[in-house]
Amino acid sequence: MHKKQHFKIQEFIQRKQNLLHKLGDKKGIILLFAGFEQSGLKFKQESSFYYFTGINEPACVWMSDFTGNTTLFTPNCPARAHWISGAIDPENFKAQDFAFDEVKHLGEPTKNYEFYPFFTAQEYSNLLAVIDNTIKSGGKIFTLKPNNQYEYFEQRFILERIATFIPNFYEALVDISNEVAQLRRTKSTAEIELLYRAVDITIMGHEAAIGIIEPGKYEFDVQAGIEYVFTASAAGLAFPSIVGSGKNSTVLHYADNLKQLEKDDLVVVDIGAQYGHYCGDLTRTYPVSGKFTKRQKEIYNLVLDTQEYIENIAKPGMWLSNKDNPEQSLNHLSKEFLKERGYDKYFLHGLGHFVGLDVHDVGNYSEPLKSGDIITIEPGIYIAAESIGVRIEDNYLVAGDGLVCLSEHLLKKADDVEELMQEKKLVSEEPRD
Ligand code: GLY
Ligand code: MN
Repeated sequence: MHKKQHFKIQEFIQRKQNLLHKLGDKKGIILLFAGFEQSGLKFKQESSFYYFTGINEPACVWMSDFTGNTTLFTPNCPARAHWISGAIDPENFKAQDFAFDEVKHLGEPTKNYEFYPFFTAQEYSNLLAVIDNTIKSGGKIFTLKPNNQYEYFEQRFILERIATFIPNFYEALVDISNEVAQLRRTKSTAEIELLYRAVDITIMGHEAAIGIIEPGKYEFDVQAGIEYVFTASAAGLAFPSIVGSGKNSTVLHYADNLKQLEKDDLVVVDIGAQYGHYCGDLTRTYPVSGKFTKRQKEIYNLVLDTQEYIENIAKPGMWLSNKDNPEQSLNHLSKEFLKERGYDKYFLHGLGHFVGLDVHDVGNYSEPLKSGDIITIEPGIYIAAESIGVRIEDNYLVAGDGLVCLSEHLLKKADDVEELMQEKKLVSEEPRD
């Protein structure tokens, strides 16, 4: 198999079959599009395309008919193999290496070694012919085209491009993003193992942060230590690392990481390793001096109490967030918990989200929690006037009649956090022989 694979081929075959099964007997084809490379950035595969194909190459297209026949279309860039490892060559296609029945080029060869979303009709001639024939024979194109502002924008752009070549293309499109989200939401054993690994690496990032945080260091020193650990663990970043100290601890997605750490600051460290495409997302809040002030500890414990309260009541059948059923909505219950203590107005974001191939993973929030979901629980209190921001976030598997915390080894009781910071101080103060 080209490049490192984290799953058995059979898992990708099964996922494609699950989608066909969910869609039922339809006339037409399923088409899913890989992402494109972008100058200056490491290529990151589009998550739903990866989920079904395991292919980490840009500009590919997966096509399936409703008898289950699958084709992978690949870019036709003869020069590509000189530039980039892993280019898939249809001439040397070996069925046992791929979860596809056949591999074909998208169209005519290009002189470039990369493909771009502004492709020509010639470069996509084979694919365009299949789409054209499907539509002419009354079939539909089942693809990712949700009716919202934030999902699958690259894929929707590709659809627009194809529509410039094929009349009636838009009329033939059927959105399958809900079905795909339902499948991606429930994690398999192999996925849970990768999520555990991503979480473990993220925990090591926090341990590195604890070793670095002290007055005089900069937020970027902490970031560097964290990202060294991620890189040395063959992991990438699930999202830009947040290291926010003092006032910056109250800015939810602060990622400048430029300020010097001061003695009385709190520092919010919200980080995630991405390993084998799966994301961790863990937040801790540390006192720079190694000891919380009385006021900081009061706020810290309120946040921790909120998280523990939710952890204990959460179970399948409740919702992460559901306005119509607040009694069973963890988001509403957490806000209620803080309201009774006078702090709800400082809790400025939602309680949690699904995690998986994307850090804010797909999954329909209007459906209740069920076994196989992976979620975060991340309450926070942000009081800008006092430069006090506290967020505590862990990752959980919904299983049995409750939750399993994937990140339970990362300590969070105020005393434990202080002890970890003190131990590190003692180690760094030990004379060297
Ligand atoms: N860890 C960043 C977020 O959940 O938004
Ligand atoms: Mn999060």
